[in-house]
Amino acid sequence: MGLVPITDLLKDAQKGGYAVGAFNCNNMEIVQAIIDAAEAEKAPVIMQASQGAIKYAGLEYIVGMANIAAKNASVPVALHLDHGTDFAQVMKCIRYGFSSVMIDGSKYPLEENIAVTNRVLEVGRAVGVSVEAELGKIGGTEDDVTVDERDASMTDPEEAKYFVEKTGVDALAIAIGTAHGQYKGEPKLDFERLEKITKVIDTPIVLHGSSGVPDEAITRAIELGVSKINIDTNIREAFTGGAREAIEKMPDEIDPRKILKVAKEQMEAVIREKIRLFKSSGKA
Ligand code: G3H
Ligand code: 13P
Ligand code: ZN
Repeated sequence: MGLVPITDLLKDAQKGGYAVGAFNCNNMEIVQAIIDAAEAEKAPVIMQASQGAIKYAGLEYIVGMANIAAKNASVPVALHLDHGTDFAQVMKCIRYGFSSVMIDGSKYPLEENIAVTNRVLEVGRAVGVSVEAELGKIGGTEDDVTVDERDASMTDPEEAKYFVEKTGVDALAIAIGTAHGQYKGEPKLDFERLEKITKVIDTPIVLHGSSGVPDEAITRAIELGVSKINIDTNIREAFTGGAREAIEKMPDEIDPRKILKVAKEQMEAVIREKIRLFKSSGKA
């Protein structure tokens, strides 16, 4: 199977009452951990590349690894651009072979966000690439731009309705109290707001900043209609935690493969847990 867009994956998730995990990848070990976890759980999966991943690995490596992963996988695999910054970057990713893109116009006023999303959608529709947009500002560190959590504004349900009417976007990222990165305290999600949003739009909803959100809150969010859940920080923690543990246990080891094997096993375990929590196990 080749890389697939996320449109059908998310529609099936909406119908089936589960969410598809969208896991950030930065190198080969992370790609392998994501694919091995998805295969073991027989789950559809989204691999996504952030701005940091593009800078670190380069688009060609990312697309190359994702293509090989998807070709050999028995589960549907999408390669998605995470927080695409502008029209030009999104076009470049489509040309390199991403099957799905996010255009993050949340930094713009509403009408500008709608306009840039529509430009991307016109191309996405023409070439069969799905498009995610963002409405409201998700707190924490967002790619190169640090959004002060205090200023982070939540998604307005009426605005969401208007945004979807004006764009018909394939997936919508919303701000309901989650933030990127490690939480200092326990995040409190605004479920009332989420419920209001899912009542007025049918578009699949994306939850960003989902690492560190308590399991019960994730379950509730899925029950209320979230169908794509982004996880990055928990994978980073598992990678570095595994590598540290291996180095401590084998201080004289000079073979990086022996260190990274442990990192990979720990990432795979975390990703499998998430897939089960998202109820997408067995849905491939
Ligand atoms: O969007 C959130 C990701 O965790 C971005 O992180 O650009 O540092 O890879 P990164
Ligand atoms: P976390 O790093 O908080 O899991 O967020 C990931 C994310 O939202 C990527 O877009
Ligand atoms: Zn995000």
